Amino acid sequence: MTKTSNAMWGGRFAAGPDAIMEAINASIGFDKRLAAQDIAGSRAHAAMLAATGIVSDSDAEAMREGLLTVLSEIEEGRFEFSTALEDIHMNVEARLKEVIGEPAGRLHTGRSRNDQVATDFKLWVRDQLDAAETGLVALIEALLVQAEAGADWVMPGFTHLQTAQPVTWGHHMMAYVEMFGRDLSRVRDARARMNECPLGAAALAGTSFPIDREMTAEALGFDRPAANSLDAVSDRDFALEFLSAASICAMHLSRFAEELVIWSSAQFRFVALSDRFSTGSSIMPQKKNPDAAELIRAKVGRIFGANVALMTVMKGLPLAYSKDMQEDKEQVFDAADNLMLALAAMEGMVRDMAPQREALEGAAGAGFSTATDLADWLVRVLGMPFREAHHVTGALVAKAEARGCDLPELSLAEMQEVHGEITKAVYDVLGVHNSVASRVSYGGTAPAQVRAQIARWKEVLG
Ligand code: ARG
Repeated sequence: MTKTSNAMWGGRFAAGPDAIMEAINASIGFDKRLAAQDIAGSRAHAAMLAATGIVSDSDAEAMREGLLTVLSEIEEGRFEFSTALEDIHMNVEARLKEVIGEPAGRLHTGRSRNDQVATDFKLWVRDQLDAAETGLVALIEALLVQAEAGADWVMPGFTHLQTAQPVTWGHHMMAYVEMFGRDLSRVRDARARMNECPLGAAALAGTSFPIDREMTAEALGFDRPAANSLDAVSDRDFALEFLSAASICAMHLSRFAEELVIWSSAQFRFVALSDRFSTGSSIMPQKKNPDAAELIRAKVGRIFGANVALMTVMKGLPLAYSKDMQEDKEQVFDAADNLMLALAAMEGMVRDMAPQREALEGAAGAGFSTATDLADWLVRVLGMPFREAHHVTGALVAKAEARGCDLPELSLAEMQEVHGEITKAVYDVLGVHNSVASRVSYGGTAPAQVRAQIARWKEVLG
């Protein structure tokens, strides 16, 4: 083997790689993030090799101890990563050789970097699914606190961002609890489905060594070994499921962030965001900007991007492993980092924010928000067909608009000019509190319904 040739496959190679080849080929710059997973996988593999008699107990013990030494070198920043050694797997193995000598050469028996990287990456993504679960639960709990405090506060509900009908603050908060609750279940589903161990699939076909795949799967916390070696080394849908769930969650975060940006503006003043999650302006002394909300709104871009990127890398790849798949990692790392940051920032903002009851209630009745209640009253009390009631109510709204007042400020005489049978009992349904209290249908905005949903969620989260 010449000096410039490769330590791992130098037998076949006379010359080392071109510098450009080394640059495009190396992944150590980013896959060093998999060091802990790589070493856990190798330690499980070494123990299995001894248990099955493939290597001696003393060799396996040396490997397992040596791998811990390498791990502490990496964790303490004392490890020198080498681009010539391409990736985390070969960096760790080469260092192990320096630390323990000859037994290190037996570690790669019955496995390949293909099953190794699939295992490492799965372990890493599994940790991210767990972190996302923790972040989502914390966010939902923060929303429940806000929902409970303002379960019966009224605010305008919107469609087309135009005033539609009054709703309760608690109801609005609970809408996000439902969304993040589905994100939580997506994350849990993905974790349950992905939890099969690729290790032992070897390069693509399995191995002739009498390995025990159940043993390594169990040692690494997997439910079972993956059942097809070709699939095991070429499956990246676990990462795609993470990115899909992350994308949907980021989209939910972005919608909520947008509402917080609108609500914290001087024109709305529905919420006051805390100083801890706002910034000032270098020129305009009065400004308090909702930067955290804006950044959460924007993070969705890179998370969607990661999802599209990996989908595109994977489409059209023949079985089994192709080097294309080395491009699976960086964007998943970035998406995971930013999702966790966005979840934590949103949780902090929600915990700290102060909804402004007076502003919410003041706005709740504006824009003829109880017009539907009025139409429903005409149907219920006067027996009018809904279409006619809609028409009559429209005329009343036009009258109020012409007078520059809200519906409850029209006199009974003015109402009766539009329809003679209207009685003063109609005023009961024109108030926003009565309006929300009346919407007792399951899932409706009535405080009683909102409180029932809060109680249900508290029980779900335990
Ligand atoms: N660094 C590689 C990756 O991330 C490891 C697997 C390499 N396998 C191979 N057959 N060259 O995909």
